[in-house]
Amino acid sequence: MAQNIYDNADFFNGYSQLPRQVKGLDGAPEWPAIRAMLPTVKNKNVADLGCGFGWAARWLREQGAAEVHGYDLSENMIERARADTADPAIDYHIADLDTLALPKACFDLVYSALAFHYVENFPRLVTTIGQALVDGGDLVFSIEHPIFMAARHPHWIADEDGRKTWPVNGYAMEGERRTDWFAKGVLKYHRTLATTLNTLTEAGFALRHIAEFAPTQDQIAATPDLAEELERPMMLIISACKTGS
Ligand SMILES: C[S@@+](CC[C@H](N)C(=O)[O-])C[C@H]1O[C@@H](n2cnc3c(N)ncnc32)[C@H](O)[C@@H]1O
Repeated sequence: MAQNIYDNADFFNGYSQLPRQVKGLDGAPEWPAIRAMLPTVKNKNVADLGCGFGWAARWLREQGAAEVHGYDLSENMIERARADTADPAIDYHIADLDTLALPKACFDLVYSALAFHYVENFPRLVTTIGQALVDGGDLVFSIEHPIFMAARHPHWIADEDGRKTWPVNGYAMEGERRTDWFAKGVLKYHRTLATTLNTLTEAGFALRHIAEFAPTQDQIAATPDLAEELERPMMLIISACKTGS
């Protein structure tokens, strides 16, 4: 049973105030890297898994997508997405990605931002996505980077000079990870980079491009706190293509 922390009031209130939820996609520093990895979506059918407030669903429609279906476990997130969306070609569904059922060969693109690390059974989800995509269809998603995920909370410790260092512990020990972030005991699932990539290729996906987000100097100049992202990768972004084999 998925944890559904986004329906916890304290967590939801804190999360809703993050720049990426107040400003939308422009408040997410990794968005330019993700956008560069997305295929053209004009007249395409798209699924957004873990769609949250629906920022990406609305952007995809602005780019000409024919239909966008957003899926999310959280009633809070879907309620807000529905309130902010007046587009009949966007449909939001409450669904758990761990038990998700999708129509077969229906989508040209499956997109997901920062949701798959909450999913326990990643192979099942990837198989479901593969069946839902048309041949040649694309899967583009971001997750918390496994190096960041493997660091115990709090993620950094000060060295003798007071400089932040970022220990990685138990990288090869996959499975549950608990962190305190807006609420105690937020449940995520750690998988190594190899497991994530091999799960995709074993399910018939060809890898197109992998990005380990790091901010540009311009981004750091505008938001100095982002310099921390040069110390260790926090986000992994993957684009893959269903090969049809
Ligand atoms: C970090 S938020 C990202 C939201 C959105 N993709 C964005 O980038 O703004 C993660 C989202 O995944 C959803 N989520 C977490 N676990 C889920 C699950 N098992 N099934 C479906 N959605 C889930 C949460 O409710 C939340 O909306």
